[in-house]
Amino acid sequence: MCGIVAYTGFRQAVPLLLEGLKRLEYRGYDSAGLAVISEGGKHFCVYKQAGKVSALARALETNGISARVGIAHTRWATHGIPNDINAHPHLSYDGEIVIVHNGIIENYASLRQRLEEKGISCRSDTDTEVLVNWIAWYRQQHPQKPWREILPEAFRAVEGTFGIAMLVRSMPDVVILVRRFSPLLIGIGQGEYIAASDATAIIPYTRRVIHLEEDEVAILSTSRTDPEIFSLREKQRTPQVEYIEWDLATIERGGYPHYMLKEIFEQPQAIRDCMRGRIRQEPLEVRLGGISSVMDRILAARRLTLLGCGTSWHAALVGEYLIEQLARVPVEVEYASEFRYRNPVITPEDVIIGISQSGETADTLGALRMAKERGALVLGITNVVGSSIPRETHAGIYIHAGPEIGVASTKAFTAQLTALSLFALHLGASRYSIDRNLHDTLIENLIEMPDLVNETIHSLNPQVQALAEKFASVSNVLYLGRGYNFPVALEGALKLKEISYIHAEGYPAAEMKHGPIALIDEGMPVIVIALRDSLYEKVIGNIQEVRSRGGWVIAIATTGDKEICHYAQEVLYVPEVPEPLSPMLTVLPMQLLAYYTAVIRGCDVDQPRNLAKSVTVE
Ligand code: M6R
Repeated sequence: MCGIVAYTGFRQAVPLLLEGLKRLEYRGYDSAGLAVISEGGKHFCVYKQAGKVSALARALETNGISARVGIAHTRWATHGIPNDINAHPHLSYDGEIVIVHNGIIENYASLRQRLEEKGISCRSDTDTEVLVNWIAWYRQQHPQKPWREILPEAFRAVEGTFGIAMLVRSMPDVVILVRRFSPLLIGIGQGEYIAASDATAIIPYTRRVIHLEEDEVAILSTSRTDPEIFSLREKQRTPQVEYIEWDLATIERGGYPHYMLKEIFEQPQAIRDCMRGRIRQEPLEVRLGGISSVMDRILAARRLTLLGCGTSWHAALVGEYLIEQLARVPVEVEYASEFRYRNPVITPEDVIIGISQSGETADTLGALRMAKERGALVLGITNVVGSSIPRETHAGIYIHAGPEIGVASTKAFTAQLTALSLFALHLGASRYSIDRNLHDTLIENLIEMPDLVNETIHSLNPQVQALAEKFASVSNVLYLGRGYNFPVALEGALKLKEISYIHAEGYPAAEMKHGPIALIDEGMPVIVIALRDSLYEKVIGNIQEVRSRGGWVIAIATTGDKEICHYAQEVLYVPEVPEPLSPMLTVLPMQLLAYYTAVIRGCDVDQPRNLAKSVTVE
């Protein structure tokens, strides 16, 4: 949550910072601001306001300020409502320091009180202004000390999470970064540094980056060839420069009206990339290099626990069905936020797998850290290379879906399902618990999957677009599925809720009669996943229960199934594949329906209200 970008170098800072904020805006978008030190100037110029980055950019259009160093921020409010005063950057009471901050200062109230006792008050309601005042006050007490000493000492009193970029008036070419929990990357160019909370703001300028680690500080100055990096604690390390594989084209919209639509259409490629190099022919088998070093411990585990939030939790639920069926190991699926705070029983025999697109979700990361401390083997299934989860877990699997920028997760979900299918197949084969024919059939179907996904998206697109016209005016929708497709019902409902603001519930179809059936009346839309699989007859029974109460049934059915037309008023066909792989197809019409419904309703698809792409606060 919140996007940070900072620059020092030879370019004009204001347009670069605004461009960076636009790329980071999916992290938060309720206010935006930037601070620069004007060339030859002695004071900070701070511009900030509630609203989106485009509004800030318009306000600065005629400004013409020339500056080569600056920091900027796009906010997702935690402390203080989104208004101009609470927007970042925040200037210290003495005018010496200005900062932007991602995270939460948990003891801000006590720090604020300590500052007030010294006669220092804040103008805003934010924890960030308390922090900048605290640093400034501490520095005033120790004017002779270098920043290398001031920051570790000042931060000893600070509790919480922070990714910070700051400017100091007396060092006009310097940007200082501090990180605890909230990610920060330093892009290293020729005679310039671009730092940001994720790579999308850096890629246009350089692909050489250093990931700042927990409790590290970086001092970036164009008068030095390398960044000065040191720890707030005793442990020091030699930072490694890494190379980002993503190119600029992958983070642009490429002619699509929204990132979400682009990412829906990118799913064939995402699935293909997730499988690349991981399937061997003759004999057919799955290879997962990222977990080979810990395979013995995985095979020794009596149970696996899958953790995630939101869409990643839905993928984990599908993973439970896959792993239990194919590898015959008990699996538990937990919301990371519940798991970490309920004192779960964790032993060194446990294997805990965190699933996260961003690799930064605070609860998933926190839960994995706790499990690691208690001796479990912790693994990550993540998309963003070099993010916190893959850095802090023992091993893992990258899904390689490419950058996902739309707040509503789409291609990450199908790539997560691909990775989980590969993992379940690999585990099943290693445990000799999967029938060889089934194993080979599933792998062959996986190989076909990118083409099937492509066909399905293209063939359903016009039909779903027309259906969305009718959906735009509904107030409630029920999504039903069974078996592998129960989690898909949850995912379909989440997609509709988060971008079109229509109330939707996902349920296991059989559970409907234990309560939700009371909601069904004349014309209530009910989307039912009714594939020709082991539960088909039962689902038809559930559809009839809906129809007899006047519900409007939209079925997601197997291509060629004519019988379903007797029961459902609208049918969306997906190709037949083995049941364990069907969620990769059944989710597609749901993603498209949520997208088009939101567009017709005039909702901001890529930046839905109150949400942020990467939830780095608990
Ligand atoms: O980055 P993560 O996969 O850990 O994110 C988890 C959720 O925040 C995320 O899936 C969220 O639910 C999406 N907005 C769903 O579309």
